[in-house]
Amino acid sequence: MLKQHIDAKVRFDQQVENSSAYVLPFIEQTKPLASGTTILEVGTGEGGVLLPFIQKGCKCVGVDLAEARIEIANDILKSEVAGGHVEFLCQNIYDEQFLNRFSAYFDVIILKDVIEHVPNQEQFIPYLKKLLKPGGQIFFGFPPWYMPFGGHQQTAQKKWTSVLPYYHILPKFLYGSILKIAGEHPAIIADLMEIKDTQITIERFERIVRRSGLKVLKKQHYLINPIYKYKFGLKPRKQWAPLTWIPYFRDFVTTCVYYTVG
Ligand SMILES: C[S@@+](CC[C@H](N)C(=O)[O-])C[C@H]1O[C@@H](n2cnc3c(N)ncnc32)[C@H](O)[C@@H]1O
Repeated sequence: MLKQHIDAKVRFDQQVENSSAYVLPFIEQTKPLASGTTILEVGTGEGGVLLPFIQKGCKCVGVDLAEARIEIANDILKSEVAGGHVEFLCQNIYDEQFLNRFSAYFDVIILKDVIEHVPNQEQFIPYLKKLLKPGGQIFFGFPPWYMPFGGHQQTAQKKWTSVLPYYHILPKFLYGSILKIAGEHPAIIADLMEIKDTQITIERFERIVRRSGLKVLKKQHYLINPIYKYKFGLKPRKQWAPLTWIPYFRDFVTTCVYYTVG
């Protein structure tokens, strides 16, 4: 188990560093950020992704279903919360109350390492449009399903089940049996099975975006995901451009993709 899996402050610091070096500069290429730009992060966790946006003067809201993580975000960023620069909510964005309050409110919505955890993305992505101002944009960063660790198996607790690539692609009963035989905790197996159900490929993601009436404004595919610096000690590397043009094959060799759509 990695230190960020047990220490929330380590996780927070990694979110801040990654957001400031990769996420924010990527978003700024299509959406200038100014004082008062409204930002929503869905699946905010400890809220670290939002800190560089707060420092730019943006008005931020972080929402997550995990109450414990929202409590940590409120604690670490208490002065930013007290100053009215950010609000953290443990709420489902489908709640009528959430939609009533934030309908057509946000300039930018961020989903970093979240869309692969959300069921029924065909319904979820068009729903996000209701929260966007006209001309607003949505950022997605996610690991495509067929990449070596697309099942998030690095979060498994046994040494070999956490470093074995590609076996998440096996039929569900085989994948589950391997995890069980390895002695993984039932809660970990349940989490990994959930991701198997909500898996998303580059092709399906782009199809949903198109069918939602959204356009891809910018994309960047990575051979080495910028967050692998923290997971595996690897240097981030962009994907070789010609590989990004080969549908399906690219999914197996691309560990992370960034998109802004609008
Ligand atoms: C892998 S973490 C990513 C946290 C943070 N965005 C980051 O990049 O470090 C995924 C987060 O998404 C949250 N999540 C998953 N589905 C969600 C949903 N439908 N609404 C809000 N949060 C959700 C989970 O509770 C979890 O905290």
